Amino acid sequence: MTSIYDAIKDDHDAHRKLLNKIAETTGDSKDRQDAWTEFFNDVKSHAAAEEETFYSKLMQETWGQDAARHSVSEHKELDDLMEELQTTDMSSPGWLAKFKTLKHDYEHHMEEEEEDVFKRAKEVIGKEHNDAFGKRFQERKNEEMGLIEKKRKDSLED
Ligand SMILES: [Fe+2]
Ligand SMILES: [Fe+2]
Repeated sequence: MTSIYDAIKDDHDAHRKLLNKIAETTGDSKDRQDAWTEFFNDVKSHAAAEEETFYSKLMQETWGQDAARHSVSEHKELDDLMEELQTTDMSSPGWLAKFKTLKHDYEHHMEEEEEDVFKRAKEVIGKEHNDAFGKRFQERKNEEMGLIEKKRKDSLED
């Protein structure tokens, strides 16, 4: 079984690798497109699953509320930036500049979750529930991935 903390941390490590990989790519290359698409879909699903399983629980307790609100508002900012990148020409200098901002901000966000938010969450979620939360997080994330895939197929059919 995977605890909620390991499940989130594993995703973060994969996201860190993808950010570094994208930073090494150039222009409108296939490498950049592939790594970006993988990053985009995985981060979207990860954030949705975090909000619906992890942060919704933290929101219920005074001790977790501030941290949860702060993180969820960062999700919105990061999502806006990702949507902007999605519609910007990858070979333009603007794309790379925006990507660097996203990389910096998202790395900061993940670090904050692993340090500050995890510490608070451990006060709110009893140890005996760690695996159940981990499982719910994974299930929610998989559902979200399925929705993204469906949306992609629908848009191809249009
Ligand atoms: Fe997050
Ligand atoms: Fe996260």
